[in-house]
Amino acid sequence: MFAENLSIRDGVLYFAGHNTVSLAAQYGTPLYLMDETRIRQNCRMYREAMRASFGADALPLYASKAASFKRIYEIMREENMCVDVVSAGEIHTAALAGFPMENVYFHGNNKTNAEIAYAMEAGVGCFVADNREELEAISRIAGARGIVQRVMLRLTPGIDPHTYEAVATGKVDSKFGVAIETGQAEALFRVAAALPNLALEGFHCHVGSQVFDEDVFERSSDIMLEFIARLRGSYGFATKLLDLGGGYGVQYVDSDGAADIPARIAELAASMRRKAAALDMPLPAVLLEPGRSIVADAGLTLYTVGAVKHITGYKNYVSVDGGMTDNPRYALYQSAYTVCAAGHMDKPAAMRCDVVGRCCESGDIIQPDVALPELRRGDILAVCTTGAYNYSMASNYNRVPRPAVVMLTPEGSAVAVRRETMEQLTENDV
Ligand code: LLP
Repeated sequence: MFAENLSIRDGVLYFAGHNTVSLAAQYGTPLYLMDETRIRQNCRMYREAMRASFGADALPLYASKAASFKRIYEIMREENMCVDVVSAGEIHTAALAGFPMENVYFHGNNKTNAEIAYAMEAGVGCFVADNREELEAISRIAGARGIVQRVMLRLTPGIDPHTYEAVATGKVDSKFGVAIETGQAEALFRVAAALPNLALEGFHCHVGSQVFDEDVFERSSDIMLEFIARLRGSYGFATKLLDLGGGYGVQYVDSDGAADIPARIAELAASMRRKAAALDMPLPAVLLEPGRSIVADAGLTLYTVGAVKHITGYKNYVSVDGGMTDNPRYALYQSAYTVCAAGHMDKPAAMRCDVVGRCCESGDIIQPDVALPELRRGDILAVCTTGAYNYSMASNYNRVPRPAVVMLTPEGSAVAVRRETMEQLTENDV
């Protein structure tokens, strides 16, 4: 199997050492499983790689949009991670988990005044301001509260990361941040430096997600460091923090290959040191914001097979009891996934089929054209690497309740998020 936490025993798929068919029987399907050990290993991998390559002041921030629920923030607290949040809802969830608010970085391209006030009331450590109006609102609301708010500015370095369009965010014409190329970033810096109640600590960029290009981070950090050097020369401004965002790609299918993230971080650090030396300036403390690469391979989804349809002379469909409501990523981005017949891992994969969901929508596809053994109603299917952007992007389309999330540890299994009930589906209907 392509991931260390997957194995096969007696024809059954095991995940994080647990029998997936038994878990499906115990908790019902559809079901999200999360391998807690793997999440912790991924956090430690980032912390150690960043400390080794950038030094003690480097910080990994978990981008919690990838998977946001109480237990995740508890794990992040225990692993001494900082977190990136993008809404009052994520702040609220982190607060419920007792996450230390000074280690929270508040992102988003359109924070409302109410969210800004909520975040300050909660004591969020640092805001990443996206635009001038937002920056002014942060300063005004901080002033009314009599505080000085730490901020960074989100900039677009003008890099095309060659990933799918929907997740490319660092280009000049992006809806996120302000562009360096057009001079608007420098103008926003001047605004930030002049506003009261703000402590401007640095700059942020995020060029895209599921990035495998070797040099994307090097190119964007070059541009950011040149900008920082310019501010140092023209305004005498000392940048404390440089946040390069998230984006390292993960392996969804065999052909993706596995990214060696510590090696990539070491190369990035070497490149940034060379650049800083060439610009004759110190390197600011470096922040990275991995989301996908912290949780993706810690997740796996289980479904029960319903209809198996052979359209003679055309194609085969295997329908499952979930779909785009719990995993919209194929429908949105044509994302690749590895699908397995969890109870029949020893049988030849003789049937080509589209694995589809139960929603009233032809685009409700989990994965097209996969090879599986002949299946029957009641068999269990596993979709691997679903820990990122599945639960967090789930919906109630067709009034389908969201699945439970079960955390797996070597000691056992425990529900981290309960399955939604019919009552919850209608509780806001008046
Ligand atoms: N930082 C910022 C400012 C971001 O916008 C993102 C992701 C991250 C960090 C984390 O990036 P990661 O390490 O996870 O690549 N729903 C899409 C992904 C959207 C990513 C949005 N921003 C998907 O399912 O592929």
